[in-house]
Amino acid sequence: MAIERKVIEPEKIEAQREICAKIFERVTADGQRPLAMVDTYGCQQNEADSEKIRGYLAEMGYGFTGDEFQADVIVVNTCAVREHAEMRVFGNVGALNHTKKARPGQIIAVCGCMVQQEHIARKLKLSYPIVDLVFGPHELWRFPELLLQVMDRHKRVFAAEKSDGVVAEGIPQSRDGKVKAWLSIMYGCNNFCTYCIVPYVRGRERSRRPEDVIAEARELVAQGYKDITLLGQNVNSYGKDLDCGVDFADLIREINAIPGDFLIRFMTSHPRDATEKLFKTMAECEKCAHHIHLPVQSGSDRILKRMNRHYDRARYLEEVAIARRCMPDLVITTDIIVGFPDETEEDFADTLSLCEEVRFDAMFTFIYSKRVGTPAATMPDPYTREQKQVHFDQLTELANRISGEKHKEYEGRTLRVLVDGETGKEPWNLSGRTNGGRLVHLQGDKALIGQFADVTITASNTWALYGELHLPL
Ligand code: SAH
Ligand code: SF4
Ligand code: F3S
Repeated sequence: MAIERKVIEPEKIEAQREICAKIFERVTADGQRPLAMVDTYGCQQNEADSEKIRGYLAEMGYGFTGDEFQADVIVVNTCAVREHAEMRVFGNVGALNHTKKARPGQIIAVCGCMVQQEHIARKLKLSYPIVDLVFGPHELWRFPELLLQVMDRHKRVFAAEKSDGVVAEGIPQSRDGKVKAWLSIMYGCNNFCTYCIVPYVRGRERSRRPEDVIAEARELVAQGYKDITLLGQNVNSYGKDLDCGVDFADLIREINAIPGDFLIRFMTSHPRDATEKLFKTMAECEKCAHHIHLPVQSGSDRILKRMNRHYDRARYLEEVAIARRCMPDLVITTDIIVGFPDETEEDFADTLSLCEEVRFDAMFTFIYSKRVGTPAATMPDPYTREQKQVHFDQLTELANRISGEKHKEYEGRTLRVLVDGETGKEPWNLSGRTNGGRLVHLQGDKALIGQFADVTITASNTWALYGELHLPL
């Protein structure tokens, strides 16, 4: 049975924006512009959330700084997916002791996926007295209200109750950059892969209404964005909770119909729900990039079953074959976990052979990290960290070799590349992306940023391509 979809009424968001105006009056009263810093960990969803936090802060009158000693408000938006990310957050929040000492009125907020875990919220409460405000992802829509409480009461505020999640439209968003934009189409996850914390901290799957997504896409195109990435933990199940007859492929088709020269990308697609309809739609929609990030996690059927992934190796390979039939130039990237509990030499050999078979353009590899409260955390895990590291290094070497070989195949070809930014390094001062999302280093005038240009690839390595721009006459 579908769970109730909790939508925050527009009046409530309006009320939050009124609070922003109130805070504005207060913090700009002395004629000075206050400064805020938003520090983001984790995935693109978190990047998109941070853009909303910055959107609210901008309405409150804050400018932005990257220097924590200059900031009146610091927001640390955290990720819980692996232990390493959590350790970094604790280290960096701990270090804010110094900035708060130097700047006693400074307000420090910690939000995001980590704090939605009870043991973490407790730890922040007990051991990090410098933290004034803690709020989970489901409370982001009322950040202005929570911040005002901290300002008014001079008391610490904690808001990270258990929740299945909400959908909130109309939160202002301050996007980073003018070329690439994140567009969340859904939130949460229902898959409960046994290793993963995301469903516990991000709540159940909720899709935004297609008309809201399309309106936002139109606005982005009108603002000149050239590369729009549709975001969700599992975009292939978009719309299943809406009963409006629009699935993910239909949504792509509708966004493709928006006039303008731009690219549509998306992440992430779960192999369990990827359909031939999606691949055909990608092939038919001229604005849809020929790239799919299709995390396989493992090449071993035994491990995939224990991960609760709902597909096996044969099905994954079949999907890749169908996708490539629809788009022979498709770029395929993936995520792989090494050292899942009880992963044997044989299981790992299956992962290596799958990678050889698919030949991914790029692979994101992770050593399994135990997450409190997930089913995998209680599975017996007889292998040591050192043993896992040996496999990890082997896999990385394979990934790098294949990426290097694939990149070599681009040399001599001329491709359409979106010039997307400056690198700050000479002589390759510009960066761009191919349609399939591969990084291209370029040399040229920064006025080209935001434009599509023909580029001949002249050199390559494991991580990137190097190209020569053909300038229009
Ligand atoms: N929703 C996306 C993944 C989001 S998390 C999907 O299912 O494709 C991004 C990646 O982090 C995952 O694909 C997985 O490879 C990795 N990951 C998640 N939990 C992990 C854990 N406990 N240990 C190590 N890697 C993990
Ligand atoms: Fe985590 Fe699996 Fe959901 Fe991805 S699909 S967010 S790996 S539970
Ligand atoms: Fe991390 Fe939360 Fe994203 S756990 S990977 S920031 S959804």
